[in-house]
Amino acid sequence: MSMDDDYYFQYKGCNFVASIYKKDYLEQLEHIEIRDSDVFIMTYPKSGTIWMQHIMSLIYSDGDIAAVESKPALARVPWIEVHSTNFSARPSPRLNASHLPYHLVPKALKEKKGKVIYVARNPKDVLVSSYYFHIHFALYESPKDFQDFFEKFIDGRVEFSSWFDHIRDWYVHKDEFNFLFLTYEELQKDLAASVQKICNFVGRQLDAEKLDSVIKNSTFDKMKKNPMANYEGIPTKCSGGSFLRKGTVGDWKNHFTVAQSEMFDKIFQERMKDVALEFIWDKE
Ligand code: A3P
Repeated sequence: MSMDDDYYFQYKGCNFVASIYKKDYLEQLEHIEIRDSDVFIMTYPKSGTIWMQHIMSLIYSDGDIAAVESKPALARVPWIEVHSTNFSARPSPRLNASHLPYHLVPKALKEKKGKVIYVARNPKDVLVSSYYFHIHFALYESPKDFQDFFEKFIDGRVEFSSWFDHIRDWYVHKDEFNFLFLTYEELQKDLAASVQKICNFVGRQLDAEKLDSVIKNSTFDKMKKNPMANYEGIPTKCSGGSFLRKGTVGDWKNHFTVAQSEMFDKIFQERMKDVALEFIWDKE
């Protein structure tokens, strides 16, 4: 696999964009102290991380909208792998996001300290979302074209490497953690039930009115209009694009050719055959 040395570095087999991450910090992170009250949203990029960051902020503020209007998502629920987020010094309860693969997370998490919420999304939709994000985000290399990006994604020649490895490793090892598995599609299908599931998991009970506020304020339209929830201000290559792009299930159907879809299905079946996970990617 040939990688552009300046753009990516590899750390223990995983690709990181060099302008964002630092190898020595990733090394330290594996040994960092975890508190029981820590919660980690774990995702492969473009699986709905920002949606969960938003939902978690609202749950932990008892549905108070001010919490998601006064500070950007990045500051409320920072990425642990970004060195500048100062993980160790933050007050409890710490809400965190991370794209790290299973084998690079803080080891204390595997001693059942803290809680992990893993959010997965149909990888075909992840690929499309990621393709557009690479066109939009100034720190990322622009894709040559869709076919080229498709091949890179399948081969894991993208940041955080292979989607297949990410989900397999997390899911196979889930019993080592306090673990909740959710899908983007499930959030779309029944946001209320998903929010209740999350509240039960993190041990925060909200009355009906507060719960309602979390749900009402977590819709795509509400978030898109909120500059603190849609990453307005991140460096972009041109005006017009948005972090909250389309927010739908099945957009891959507008982008994949029949041949690409068949090839993807074949690889999916091969790579996922030993993972005892039933994938329900449709909304209905
Ligand atoms: P699309 O590009 O398909 O629109 P991440 O935060 O992991 O990068 O994921 C971003 C994706 O989640 C984008 O997908 C974005 O639009 C979608 N998303 C964010 N908030 C959402 C919401 N409230 N409802 C539906 N989709 C949402």
